[in-house]
Amino acid sequence: MSVTVVETIAELRALLAGRSTALVPTMGALHEGHLALVARARSVADTVVVSIFVNPLQFGPTEDLDRYPRTLEADVAKLDAAGVDFVFAPQASEMYPGGAIDTTVTAGQVGTLFEGRTRPGHFDGVLTIVTKLLGIATPEFVLFGQKDAQQVYLVQRMVRDLNIDTEVIVVETVRENNGLALSSRNRYLDEWERRAALSLSTALEAASSASDRGIDAVLAAAQSVFTGEDLVTLDYLAVVDPGTFLPVDDDYRGPARVLIAARVGQTRLIDNQLVHLGG
Ligand code: PAF
Repeated sequence: MSVTVVETIAELRALLAGRSTALVPTMGALHEGHLALVARARSVADTVVVSIFVNPLQFGPTEDLDRYPRTLEADVAKLDAAGVDFVFAPQASEMYPGGAIDTTVTAGQVGTLFEGRTRPGHFDGVLTIVTKLLGIATPEFVLFGQKDAQQVYLVQRMVRDLNIDTEVIVVETVRENNGLALSSRNRYLDEWERRAALSLSTALEAASSASDRGIDAVLAAAQSVFTGEDLVTLDYLAVVDPGTFLPVDDDYRGPARVLIAARVGQTRLIDNQLVHLGG
């Protein structure tokens, strides 16, 4: 095995000193979507570091922190095969000595919408850990998947707002052949739920097909896919301006991102798609 697993901040800093690095932050339970980030990272930097840390700060009290899949050994094997140099896998006590930190990053108004409305504080937790990881690895590049569109928007804005000297690279969502966006949480789905979960990507395709006819048609087309899907409870369906991540007006024309979040059985899934609103 040629990958080196590092558990402490001091050791990682020493190993990365003087290197041009690309960082892929993850919470583990790695799938092909993560490996696409790694492949892109390898194409832009000499040294690739993948962090694996299930960040307690971004989970609400009733969320799946305890049952979130932890598969470190299998993850490290995948990253070794993918040519990753370093895996940073700290304990929570290394990242949050004493159990907590007093200084955190706040995601502002956009952080309270969509995912942030269902998961209050989630994006403050994400931005705080991403800031810590950027401070530790000081990478030239950091890579995120487009599936988490709101996270991508907020990280890009934070890096701009706080003048962090790292370039954010966004990699397209990786999907199964049937359209299902890859997610670590897909492993919670049983056979029937897996089939029902296809309604998210199908709704996005319907939205895209209707985009010439404007926002009402987009929303109606996407919404209609969920009719009769008993295993799926739609959380939100929204169309946002990619520049502000705020909902577009009825007469908006131009690029827009359609967002979907739904509960499939007990599992919450999200997906999104860029469309061009015409009409
Ligand atoms: O997208 C994720 O897996 C997490 O939100 C991240 C960016 C690794 C921060 O914990």
